Amino acid sequence: MITQKTIQKVFDAAKIEEVVGDFVNLKRRGVNLIGLCPFHDEKTPSFTVSPSKNLFKCFGCDKGGDPTRFIMEHEKLSFPESIRFLADKYQIEVEETTQTATEIHNKHVTDTLYIINDFAKSFYSKNLFETQEGKSIGLSYFKERGFREHIIKKFDLGYATDTKNEMTSAALKKNFNEEYLKKVGLTTQSNGDFFRNRVIFTIHNLSGKIVGFAGRTLSKDKKSPKYINTPETDIYSKRNVLYGLFFAKDQIRKLDECLLVEGYTDVISLHQGDITNVVATSGTALTEEQIRLIKRYTDNVLLIYDGDRAGVKAAMRGLDLVLQAGMNVRLVLLPDGHDPDSYLSEVGATSFSEFIKENAEDFVLFKTNVLLSETAKDPIGKTRAIKDIVSTLALIVDPIKRMMYIKQCSERFDISEAILNKETNTVIRDNIKKKKLKENLESPLPNEDEWIAPQKSESQKETIFEQNDSHQELAVIHVLFNYGTQIYDENTGKSVANHIIEEISPIIDLFDVSMYKRIILETIDMISNRQFDIQHFIGHQQEDIRALCITSLTEKYPYANWEAKGMYLQTQKMPNENYILDCDNALLRLKFKKARKIIADLEKYFKEGDLNDTESEEYILNVKVYQELLNRRNQMAQQLGSVTF
Ligand code: UTP
Ligand code: MN
Repeated sequence: MITQKTIQKVFDAAKIEEVVGDFVNLKRRGVNLIGLCPFHDEKTPSFTVSPSKNLFKCFGCDKGGDPTRFIMEHEKLSFPESIRFLADKYQIEVEETTQTATEIHNKHVTDTLYIINDFAKSFYSKNLFETQEGKSIGLSYFKERGFREHIIKKFDLGYATDTKNEMTSAALKKNFNEEYLKKVGLTTQSNGDFFRNRVIFTIHNLSGKIVGFAGRTLSKDKKSPKYINTPETDIYSKRNVLYGLFFAKDQIRKLDECLLVEGYTDVISLHQGDITNVVATSGTALTEEQIRLIKRYTDNVLLIYDGDRAGVKAAMRGLDLVLQAGMNVRLVLLPDGHDPDSYLSEVGATSFSEFIKENAEDFVLFKTNVLLSETAKDPIGKTRAIKDIVSTLALIVDPIKRMMYIKQCSERFDISEAILNKETNTVIRDNIKKKKLKENLESPLPNEDEWIAPQKSESQKETIFEQNDSHQELAVIHVLFNYGTQIYDENTGKSVANHIIEEISPIIDLFDVSMYKRIILETIDMISNRQFDIQHFIGHQQEDIRALCITSLTEKYPYANWEAKGMYLQTQKMPNENYILDCDNALLRLKFKKARKIIADLEKYFKEGDLNDTESEEYILNVKVYQELLNRRNQMAQQLGSVTF
């Protein structure tokens, strides 16, 4: 592991304008620099770099962060890899903590497995191109399918001959360890080759390392499976792999769309036709892990499937997860009996692309149509179909998008929008309840109105929590992020962060938004041993916290935005000079809201009074607290009245 000291050195050295400047042409605009965003296609620059905050932020696609984050996103590197990258740029020596024996061993094992796979790849490739059997059976098969040599080489296709253990003995001769050959799945328990008499498809991970192989039989024998795959190993897990992603990722990001097909050969054919933003699930239903991989590059997925019933069913299986991830899904069904590979071979790349463009359909509406056609004129079937589509509608994360779909489905099903809306919301609530039960979430259940109302707010979170204190909580977080290290009290040297924590700690359990609560708790933790350090949140491992932090630090017009939400702040002075006032205001508002909440709770408690023993200690204490709170609330109301409007 890289030492904390090295990481800190890199953080201190890396200047955002220099790091970004290596990749993006930046121009000065006031105190900031701007350029064309490298993460999405744009014509007018909305990508902003702030040297003073040492952050970048794109106001078009919302990506943002510190220099390390930029390298992680741009170069698709892990955190330690980015630190190394930057250490190299700034000529900082990377110190490693001494690893435990187990760590060294495990690292050594996986390194060795990759090396063995690399050897096997070369072996199979040599077979294909240089042996008589390979050329006459394997290579001629690929060529017959129309694969050209450059694409065969690019995808590391190969050939495994029909011998018992040719590959294994070659590997042993190279001094590879038998145990490891078995561990990586190339050698069977009985010391034979796992892949025999098959053409080989090499499977790469995101960074191009070889994690496994698939072998396709060329025999017509129905008994042997068409494809066999490397079994699950330390470096290969079917759930985590998308075939072709290594070759497709740049183009997926550039075109902001990922084509999803079923087969290895489909990916290869499309690549050959210069359609390179394509990956395959390889015969399994799409997994959550695979969706997360795609989501690193785009939110838009286009499924290309067989037009037959099985193809449609397969496509539907993947849909729910993709919708849940907040992605947009479209679908193209190919003419009956064709998969992408065969269709492209038949009509050529240009017609293929045109077909895709013309026939891509929105998936939710497609599903509606399929369900409708299946149940035409059958009332019972129709009820079932509505249930089915409602379960899909309930998964759409964005409330505005969901409303749009509800409207369209209501027309197609000839059923009132209100009913469909109500049904959907019932399912949403059930889903949340189930999820809450499962995860025992801290945050309260939003009620129905909060979910439905799309209002004007852009993000789903704001919609969910419209009715609670999330705005007031956020305002405090905003001050904490922006001014946490500033001095609040000149006499004692107390920082804004310390002040906020002092004020907020007593009501932390009343927070409505669990993410904000977590931020406060982590801040308490942090300042108990050292100073508030915004870097902790800028580089936070939880994505939503990180995003919130960056947005908060880079918001263009935070105050105008707050006013739109009914939160007036004094802005006569520049925000930077005004932070003490802002801090006081935000805290006051939050405490006021929370006080009202406790007061309401207590009033309820008193109302159910006949059940209370009015002499009990608890009752007497509650009365005292109630009176005190009323006083405080009135004071606060007065303060609020005088400072704001
Ligand atoms: P297909 O049967 O459609 O094969 O399976 P294909 O990719 O079109 O291959 P060709 O054109 O007949 O050569 C689609 C995908 O399902 C997985 C493979 O990933 C395959 O590419 N599959 C299929 C298996 O894993 N095992 C099998 O036995 C069959
Ligand atoms: Mn095929």
